[in-house]
Amino acid sequence: MVEIEYKNARVKLGDPDLVYEPAEDSFLLADAALEDTESGMRILEVGTGSGFVSAVLRANFENVRIIATEINPHAARCAKKNGVEVLRTDLFRGIKPRSPEARFDLILFNPPYLPTSEEEKVPVWLNYAFDGGASGRETLERFFAEVRAYLRPGGRILVLISSITGVEAVQEKMEGLGFDVDIAGRTKVSFEELVVVRGKLS
Ligand SMILES: C[S@@+](CC[C@H](N)C(=O)[O-])C[C@H]1O[C@@H](n2cnc3c(N)ncnc32)[C@H](O)[C@@H]1O
Repeated sequence: MVEIEYKNARVKLGDPDLVYEPAEDSFLLADAALEDTESGMRILEVGTGSGFVSAVLRANFENVRIIATEINPHAARCAKKNGVEVLRTDLFRGIKPRSPEARFDLILFNPPYLPTSEEEKVPVWLNYAFDGGASGRETLERFFAEVRAYLRPGGRILVLISSITGVEAVQEKMEGLGFDVDIAGRTKVSFEELVVVRGKLS
């Protein structure tokens, strides 16, 4: 099994035809998450894939509780092999919003963010890694519709998107939901710029 090392973590990769292989987007989100994590936090990662980002956080913080979700069963199995506590589900399904104190301090999502037409969709689990619907924001819109119910007062979200997903549209959406929004990281990769958008609740 192929393994990669990143910031104190050794992460097992799945079959690249079945499980998203960590790339620049994963590294940028992991770096931003490391900056925003503090001891004692409860963290949720939605769409953990191989478990890379959660595994990097686990390797660098002893006293954090990290739970992840993932829709692709192959990816969920891979994340488990990387020691990540993962629920195979759609977005937040199965995670009950509880009292404000028991909700999450930090929620992470590197979603499928590529604008994808009906003809471009492929009937394999890996399609979930890329297919953001016609706008590139379809899964992200469903995430935004629910995320506040899982976040404690003062909590924050980190969302990875690309310049082709529409950074302004995402920022405006988050502001409309009551988040204070800023950019937690950005990097240029060939034809696109990858951006981590941070939203904070007051
Ligand atoms: C771009 S990949 C990122 C994977 C990993 N977090 C990383 O950064 O390397 C997006 C991941 O989200 C998962 N995903 C897509 N839609 C989902 C949904 N509705 N619920 C849960 N996971 C989803 C995909 O299967 C894929 O593993």
